[in-house]
Amino acid sequence: MPDAPAGQVRSLGIVGPGRVGLALARLALAAGLEVLVAGAGDVDRTRARVDGEAPGARAVTLAEAGRADVTVLAIPLGRLRELDPQALAGALVVDAMNYWWELDGARPDLDDPTTSTSQTVQAHLTDSRVVKALGHMSLYELENLAFPLGHPERRGAAIAGDHPRDVATVARLVDMLGFDPVALGSLADGVRFEPGTEAFGADESADELAAMLHRFWDSQRGRVVARARGLL
Ligand SMILES: NC(=O)c1ccc[n+]([C@@H]2O[C@H](COP(=O)([O-])OP(=O)(O)OC[C@H]3O[C@@H](n4cnc5c(N)ncnc54)[C@H](OP(=O)(O)O)[C@@H]3O)[C@@H](O)[C@H]2O)c1
Repeated sequence: MPDAPAGQVRSLGIVGPGRVGLALARLALAAGLEVLVAGAGDVDRTRARVDGEAPGARAVTLAEAGRADVTVLAIPLGRLRELDPQALAGALVVDAMNYWWELDGARPDLDDPTTSTSQTVQAHLTDSRVVKALGHMSLYELENLAFPLGHPERRGAAIAGDHPRDVATVARLVDMLGFDPVALGSLADGVRFEPGTEAFGADESADELAAMLHRFWDSQRGRVVARARGLL
């Protein structure tokens, strides 16, 4: 766990009422959080989905979701630019998105080894504080492998961010949702659990996940990233 004291987590905003967003909404409701979900269309359309699949969560605008203690982005990464940065100004934002070329199309900017995709998210959301988490976890893991603290089957969840207090706050959130936080480095280190890495979709314990994240630099992708960033 990170050293810095965590901020409070009483409410969770979720942007994207899809498979991941609604799975996270159900976990957050089970943890006793107030859950505010924003979709792409009008609020009534989002409400229809939320009432059916995550009853107890509230359909809201993007700006309202951004006023929660933590706000998770769970939309296709290729649609990032649809989000108005001003609506999320001041928000602690969890980037749970991945570059998925089948969905997002060929986007060399999102596959650039000199930056993590979460740095691209941060560059768009200039007035938010972005932390990368939850995106490396499979939908199966989110829906079936959340366990209470201390349970022997608990899985690890990687977290990368530039500000220790924000990383600590997201670690608290991850713990409340049912996973053991594994904090590592800065937002640039988010590349260590993007698609194509060993940690992506691993469904492993915190210790095993930490070992995978450590081994990243010995992998083929790790060497490509290190070379592109002038680390070799
Ligand atoms: N599926 C997984 O196993 C998994 C696991 C971890 C992370 N992820 C990542 O999580 C993200 C979502 O994946 P998913 O599988 O949940 O996709 P999904 O089921 O297609 O859901 C995406 C949701 O985002 C909404 N959306 C799109 N643009 C939006 C906008 N501008 N504002 C608000 N909502 C918007 C969509 O609404 P409309 O339908 O109205 O367009 C849809 O409800 C992706 O980046 C993915 O890489 C996926």
